[in-house]
Amino acid sequence: MKTYKDFDNYLKEFPDKNGYFGQYGGSFLPPELVPAFEEINDAYQEICHSAQFISELRRIRREFQGRPTPVYHCARLSRVFGKCQIYLKREDLNHTGAHKLNHCMGEGLLAQFMGKKKLIAETGAGQHGVALATAAAYFGLDCDIYMGEVDIAKQHPNVIRMQMLGAKVIPVSHGLKTLKEAVDAAFDGYMREYKDAIYCIGSALGPHPFPLMVRDFQSVVGYEARDQFQQMTGLLPDVVCAAVGGGSNAIGMFEAFLSDPVDIVGVEPLGRGENVGDHAASMKFGSKGILHGFESMLLQDEQGDPLPVYSIASGLDYPGVGPEHAYLRECGRVTYDVVSDEEAMEAFFLLCRTEGIIPAIESSHALAYAIRYAKEHQNGSILVNLSGRGDKDIDYVYEKYGTGEQFTDALN
Ligand SMILES: Cc1ncc(COP(=O)(O)O)c(C=O)c1O
Repeated sequence: MKTYKDFDNYLKEFPDKNGYFGQYGGSFLPPELVPAFEEINDAYQEICHSAQFISELRRIRREFQGRPTPVYHCARLSRVFGKCQIYLKREDLNHTGAHKLNHCMGEGLLAQFMGKKKLIAETGAGQHGVALATAAAYFGLDCDIYMGEVDIAKQHPNVIRMQMLGAKVIPVSHGLKTLKEAVDAAFDGYMREYKDAIYCIGSALGPHPFPLMVRDFQSVVGYEARDQFQQMTGLLPDVVCAAVGGGSNAIGMFEAFLSDPVDIVGVEPLGRGENVGDHAASMKFGSKGILHGFESMLLQDEQGDPLPVYSIASGLDYPGVGPEHAYLRECGRVTYDVVSDEEAMEAFFLLCRTEGIIPAIESSHALAYAIRYAKEHQNGSILVNLSGRGDKDIDYVYEKYGTGEQFTDALN
């Protein structure tokens, strides 16, 4: 088992040149797509060391995205549970309301460098789709977003936003009609157009180099948060946590803390419970397998076909997880835990009432873990990646839970 002391050279060593984090990652592609991904990798390796690219990305982050986003101390929420202090990294304040724009602007800049004309992606909650549509508008590129019909109904405001930004939203009607099927369809779309398009996968997963690229683009979250937290308190947090769907906001938050004496926790959705089809906790209940061109921990049946998944959070219901998370769990550096729909919704309403912040349901999973931690620890601090805002969720939440009085007993 590794500790933080073993992570000084980690970023130089992982992933290896074939995109492996230990036994996870790699690239499993139909032969016709191999050159397309090699082209992306070559271009990325060139620009990630280019001062011009980095300074342009920094300018975009500052002037267009509104970065740095703040770290915020939840004094009122913390008081409800005792003396452990809860802090939020406010990615909900990143332009478009979630962390997803961090990698989309990087991928848009890469597409421009490569002379591509179109960005293609899938979306679950719609946040990645909105972020990519935004990047496409910014760089003057076309944009196709594949989205399951179930998520289209659930995340309607984001569908309208994508269309207003000029993207084409393509409904996906096979299988469970959610995130996994949207990825299938986006891959098919990319196969038809890879010469002119780039596939901007929505999380830190997919074939190499996407887990690496998305991690690099998202790592701004953790590096900012680490500096900000130290400036605010003179210390590092005791724990850092983030929700894990595919793993982009989590890996972005974790990277800066890997070689620090800080506990790191990824939070997966337990949904309605432990039965197959009721959750999307790939680390807890999954096994090693291949999906969408990479090898990682997956929820799969004995034939290796993905199992049905569910979470109240559309952005978390994917039957796999990014390969770097699978590695960090296996080597013991990061712990992964689960949070149910109900716990996430309690956290959602508590944050609304105590701090005046409506969080995304995805992010509410990480917050629920922090609340659990604060109940169990009467001192110290926990820093949560508040990966997005909940405006996209309010119609759905209101229909299901009203205004949430049933969840705010802790305040009485
Ligand atoms: C606000 C928010 N947080 C988290 C996620 C989960 O994705 P990831 O695990 O890649 O951060 C999503 C996905 O749509 C999201 O919209």
